[in-house]
Amino acid sequence: TANAHFVVVANRLPVDLERLPDGSTRWKRSPGGLVTALEPLLRNNKGAWVGWAGVPDADLAPEVDDGLELFPVPLSADEVERYYEGFSNATLWPLYHDVIVRPEYHRDWWNAYVEVNRRFAEATAAAAAEGATVWVQDYQLQLVPKMLRMLRPDLTIGFFLHIPFPPVELFMQLPWRTEIVEGLLGADLIGFHLPGGAQNFLYLARRLAGQQTSRGTVGVRSKLGVVQVGFRTVRVGAFPISIASGELDEQARSRKIRDRAKAIRKELGNPKHILLGVDRLDYTKGIDVRLEALYELLQDDRVDPSDTVLVQLATPSRERVESYVRLRGSIEQTVSRINGEYGEVGHPVVHYLHRPIPRDELIAFFVAADVMLVTPLRDGMNLVAKEYVACRSDLGGSLVLSEFTGAAAELRQAYLCNPHDLDNVKDAMTSAMDQTREDGRRRMRAMRRQVLTHDVDRWARSFLDALADKGAAGRALV
Ligand code: G6P
Repeated sequence: TANAHFVVVANRLPVDLERLPDGSTRWKRSPGGLVTALEPLLRNNKGAWVGWAGVPDADLAPEVDDGLELFPVPLSADEVERYYEGFSNATLWPLYHDVIVRPEYHRDWWNAYVEVNRRFAEATAAAAAEGATVWVQDYQLQLVPKMLRMLRPDLTIGFFLHIPFPPVELFMQLPWRTEIVEGLLGADLIGFHLPGGAQNFLYLARRLAGQQTSRGTVGVRSKLGVVQVGFRTVRVGAFPISIASGELDEQARSRKIRDRAKAIRKELGNPKHILLGVDRLDYTKGIDVRLEALYELLQDDRVDPSDTVLVQLATPSRERVESYVRLRGSIEQTVSRINGEYGEVGHPVVHYLHRPIPRDELIAFFVAADVMLVTPLRDGMNLVAKEYVACRSDLGGSLVLSEFTGAAAELRQAYLCNPHDLDNVKDAMTSAMDQTREDGRRRMRAMRRQVLTHDVDRWARSFLDALADKGAAGRALV
């Protein structure tokens, strides 16, 4: 039924289909920042969501879940391997994250990417009402804007990239670089987290697609980049994403969460310093960096293993992709090395969980932690950093934050560090552990002001207003 006036298209639906041992199925929330950001918006707007249910070979009918229309797009086991694990997560993901891991280029994977993108475009064309607004999300679906425009020229199409857009020198490696740029140019508005990503894209549009580009001003207040594609104008800008900060702030203040946070501290033996890491288990996140830094601090006698613990909560992710398998092995080895050398029976230094963590439990850990460690080698935004800040209405705690995250552009009062410079990470960690109460409160207050005034609604509204050409702005391109 083509009756949705607002459609989000993303690789994943906001819920994953879970197959239980007895053969029955149920929905559970999907992992990752994208879903966290968009789900509340869609539920409140009675929109439709086109996406994959997270398991291969599931042929599911559209259904309405809590006011939200879900349009499942099926993927075969072979497509999961070539489009999702292959081209999306072993080609584009590492290429867009500064080639931390070497991207693999296989024509066979690319062909599956094209095919699956076409299926998403067709499913969207079938779901959207005449003149509807469609918002396509992220690196898995970069060909959808152009494909969809060919099927449905009546639609208004936005695209947002949730991961970094890479430097031109890296993007140029991609054998299908022109097709990707042209795919994106099917949109009316293309959004990135940071002005740098938008600029990289503008340069490529000129160079690869031979388009006229400018950094002109569109509307009254917006300074968006402009690409002229034939008679169409495509706008390009920076829209840093955020979280539902008000809601999270409130949840974290609840009696239930505060009691649980206290219990966590007690279970950990009421140590002087609780350090915390919360990530999908991904090589971009620098989990190994913070573990190595802790190991050296213990060796240097700058951290006392009798009064310090690190809790690392790692959500399983992309477990069939080889680089993720290797990363898991190496992280688990480092955890064991630290505990083997510095832990006591019943008192490990590192507490490591590799499993999905319930939302309430996560919030309680944020409230309990003295030092939040966010040390990615590269990250488009990193919502965990913002979540931690939103949870600290007590103005306690400190944030160690990698300069290579989008969040570092906004959270300037964090202890910023270069994750490639281990000494610098160690210094940031000890500064954060040793901060005075007053300094800590001052920093947290400033960061909270930023996060509470720039929430996910404001992000979505500024993108959608710009898409509707109301002149509201992404951040100006520098
Ligand atoms: C990041 C990406 C999302 C993705 C999420 C989880 O946040 O930007 O597009 O959904 O990771 O990864 P997964 O591969 O499990 O969907």
